[in-house]
Amino acid sequence: MSTFSQSYPMSGGDDQHSYIHNSTYQKAAMDGVEEKAKQYILEKFDLLTLNPDLSTFRIADFGCSIGPNTFHAIQNIIDAVKLKHLKESQENSLVSSLEFQVFFNDQSNNDFNTLFRTLPTSFEQEYLSVGVPGSFYGRVLPKNSIHIGTTSCTTHWLSGVPEQVFDKKSPAWNKSYIYCNNLIEEVTKAYKDQYTQDMSLFLKARAEELVPGGLMIMLGLYLPDGVAMYETWPGIVKDTMGDCLQEMAKLGITSHEKIEMFSMPLYFPYFSEVKGVIEENESFTIELMETVRHPLEAAELTNDFMISTYRAVMPTFIEKHFGNGKVDELFNRLAKKFSEHPIDFEKCKKQMIYYVVLKRK
Ligand SMILES: C[S@@+](CC[C@H](N)C(=O)[O-])C[C@H]1O[C@@H](n2cnc3c(N)ncnc32)[C@H](O)[C@@H]1O
Repeated sequence: MSTFSQSYPMSGGDDQHSYIHNSTYQKAAMDGVEEKAKQYILEKFDLLTLNPDLSTFRIADFGCSIGPNTFHAIQNIIDAVKLKHLKESQENSLVSSLEFQVFFNDQSNNDFNTLFRTLPTSFEQEYLSVGVPGSFYGRVLPKNSIHIGTTSCTTHWLSGVPEQVFDKKSPAWNKSYIYCNNLIEEVTKAYKDQYTQDMSLFLKARAEELVPGGLMIMLGLYLPDGVAMYETWPGIVKDTMGDCLQEMAKLGITSHEKIEMFSMPLYFPYFSEVKGVIEENESFTIELMETVRHPLEAAELTNDFMISTYRAVMPTFIEKHFGNGKVDELFNRLAKKFSEHPIDFEKCKKQMIYYVVLKRK
C-alpha cells in the first residue's frame, strides 16, 4: 500500500520556505485574469434577482492555502460586488447595506492559524471570516448558502493516487517515475480518470452549495494539446527530483522500494478534459470559458524561483512518505543539480491557464 494521506497542504508558517513567500507563480496566474471576473460581475451578475432582500453576501474560496493569494482573490470579488451593489441600489432607489461573510476552505491540516493570523487588518473590517476544513471533493458548506465560490490552482491536486500506478503487474505501473509525466499512456489514463471523477465530485458539491444564480469562478493550469508534462519546467523539476531520490536510494538514505511506491497526486489536464467534465455537469451554465498564457511563462524564470516554488508546495507528502529530514536532503540535491545543469527555460514547453465562470441554474 502507498502511504499517501488524502491531503497535502502547502508549506505553512512564515519561514523562507512557506507558501506565503513562494506563491508568486500562482498569484501571477490570478493577476492575468482578475479583470475578467470584475467585468463579469459588473456587467452581468444580477444581485437583485439573486435576492432582492440580500443583506449578507457569502463568498467561499475552495483550497485557499495560507495566503496571501486567497486574500487578494476575495478582495477582488468584494470590490466588484460592492460596485455592482451601489449601481443597482442607485438605479432602483434602494437603501440597503451589504455585509460580507467569507468562507476559507482547505484540508484540515492546512495551516489555518497562519491564514487567520496574517489576515490583513483592513480586511477584518471588510468581512467576517470562517475557516472551513475538509476536502472540496465533497460538500463542505450548507446547501444553497454561497453567492460566489472561487478556486485557484487547486484541482490538479487529486483526491488520491490511482492504485494501479503502484501495481507492477498493471500496464498502468508507473515504474520509478514519481508523477504523471505522460511517458506511459496507461498511467496517464489512470490519472486522467481520477481527475475526471474528482472534478465531477467537485462540481456536484459546489452545485449544491451555491444559491441559484450564484457564480463559481475557477482558475487552473492545463497542458496545451500535444505537450507532455515532461517537456515543461514543472515536469523537468519533478523528473529531476526523481533522479535525486534514486541517488539517495543508492546511498541508503531511502530505498528503491519506497520510490516505486511514491507517485505524486497531481494531474494537469488538457483543456478538452476540463471542458468535458464541466459540460457534463448540468447544474451550471457556462458564462465564460477562456484560456490565457501564464504571464510568468513569457518571462525567463530562474532556477532558484522554480525550486523554491516547488519547495513550498511539496513538503508534506514527501516527508510523510520518505520520513523526517528527507525534504531538506532532496531539495539540497535538487538545487545542486540545477546549479550544475540549469534548466533551459527557453526550451521548455509552456503550461497555460484556463479561466471559467459558471452560473448555478
Ligand atoms: C497550490 S495551492 C493554491 C492555493 C491558493 N488557492 C492560491 O492560488 O494561491 C493548492 C491548495 O489546494 C488545497 N487542496 C488540495 N486538495 C484539496 C482538497 N481536496 N480539498 C481542499 N483543499 C485542497 C491544498 O491544500 C492547497 O492549499
